[in-house]
Amino acid sequence: MKKKVDNLIEIAKKRAGVAAVDEFVRDGMILGIGSGSTVVYAVNRLVERTKNEGLKVICIPTSFQSTQLIVNGGLTLGDLSRYPKIDVDIDGADEVDENLNLIKGGGGCLLQEKIIASNSEKLVIVADYRKDSKILGEKWKKGIPIEIVSMAYVALMKKMAKMGGSPVLRLAEKKVGPLITDNGNFILDVDFGEISDPKMLNQKIKMFPGVVETGLFIEMTEKVYFGQKDGSLISRKR
Ligand code: A5P
Repeated sequence: MKKKVDNLIEIAKKRAGVAAVDEFVRDGMILGIGSGSTVVYAVNRLVERTKNEGLKVICIPTSFQSTQLIVNGGLTLGDLSRYPKIDVDIDGADEVDENLNLIKGGGGCLLQEKIIASNSEKLVIVADYRKDSKILGEKWKKGIPIEIVSMAYVALMKKMAKMGGSPVLRLAEKKVGPLITDNGNFILDVDFGEISDPKMLNQKIKMFPGVVETGLFIEMTEKVYFGQKDGSLISRKR
C-alpha cells in the first residue's frame, strides 16, 4: 500500500516538473534551478529537451544539490554574479497557500532559494497534491524554517517562543549536533500553527539581528503546478 502511494506521489511530482519546463522554458533563457525531490523531474525534462531540441539555457543553482543536478545532467552552470537577471526560476515548496505564498526550506536551502527567486522575473513552483493548502501551517507541521547565525540560536529561540512559536534547532542526520546549511548557518524550525498573516510574520521575524532569512516566500510566485493523485495536473496563477 505504502509503495503504491509513494509511486503516485512520484508520478504527481513528475507531472508538475515536466509541465513547468514545457510551459515556461525557451531557448536562450537564464534559469534558476531550485532544490528538493520535485525539481529533479524538472531538471530531467530540461536535459531531455536540450538533447531533443538543442535547447540552450544557463542554469543558476540554489544549493549544492542543484549544482550537482545541473553538472550531472550536462547543463550549463552559471552563477548570480555573471547572470544577475534570471528569466524563470523553477523550484519546489513545502506548502502553498491560496494566495501562492510559500513555506520553503524543508531541505535547508531557503537562503539561496530566496536570493535566486527574488532575482527572477518569474518564480514557478512544482509540487504534488500534498502541498496545496488554504492557509500556511495547515498541512506543513514541521514549522517555518529560519536560517540564523549560529551564535544567536539560544537568544533567537527565546524570541520565537515569546512570539508564540515553538522553535526547534534542526539537527544533522548521521552527525551529532546541529545541521549546518550550505552557508555555514543553523536552522530553527518554528511552529506558529496556522498562519493568518504570513507577510506580517515574515517581517517581524526578519527584524531580529541574527536572522539571515525565513522560509516564508511572500507574493513571489507566478504560477504553481500541483501534480494530482490520479495523474492529472492542476495549476494556479497569481
Ligand atoms: C529546499 O530547501 C526546499 O525549499 C524544497 O524546495 C522543498 O522542501 C520542496 O522539496 P520537495 O520537492 O522534495 O518536496
